[in-house]
Amino acid sequence: MQLPSVLVLNGPNLNLLGTREPAIYGAETLSDVEQMCRDAAARLNLRVDCRQSNAEHQLIDWIHECRTQFDGIVINPGAYTHTSVAIADAIVGVAKPVIEVHISNVHKREAFRHHSYISPIAEAILVGCGTQGYVLALERMATVLAKKVAK
Ligand code: DQA
Repeated sequence: MQLPSVLVLNGPNLNLLGTREPAIYGAETLSDVEQMCRDAAARLNLRVDCRQSNAEHQLIDWIHECRTQFDGIVINPGAYTHTSVAIADAIVGVAKPVIEVHISNVHKREAFRHHSYISPIAEAILVGCGTQGYVLALERMATVLAKKVAK
């Protein structure tokens, strides 16, 4: 049997993790975060593919790939969280479970970060857990996907 597969997507500016506002986003780099995700996936019997783009259209194209290539999506859409109807439409279009991650607690920050186009269509949301949020999201996704198989 094939392992359940999860696409881990990071949006704009998350390639700068480690150097970008470390007081808010911490010291780990994107490659540290991706390694944490691969380690968690190995423990959880998931297959993961980690990708990052600063381009909205690229994130949308990757979400579309999930129709045939992945069972679920863990996404930190960065600032597109607060602006992108197109990413939300893509997620609805592929009809796969999505877990939204934010490293910082967006609700403690500027008002424009309080609204998310993704949250109303997300299976779960991890906010303000630092980079551990990605691992927690994968743990939850493993449970969500196991329940789908059992149905
Ligand atoms: C973020 C929060 C967003 O508001 C911001 O634009 C980001 C990162 C987070 O992980 O805390 O780029 O998604």
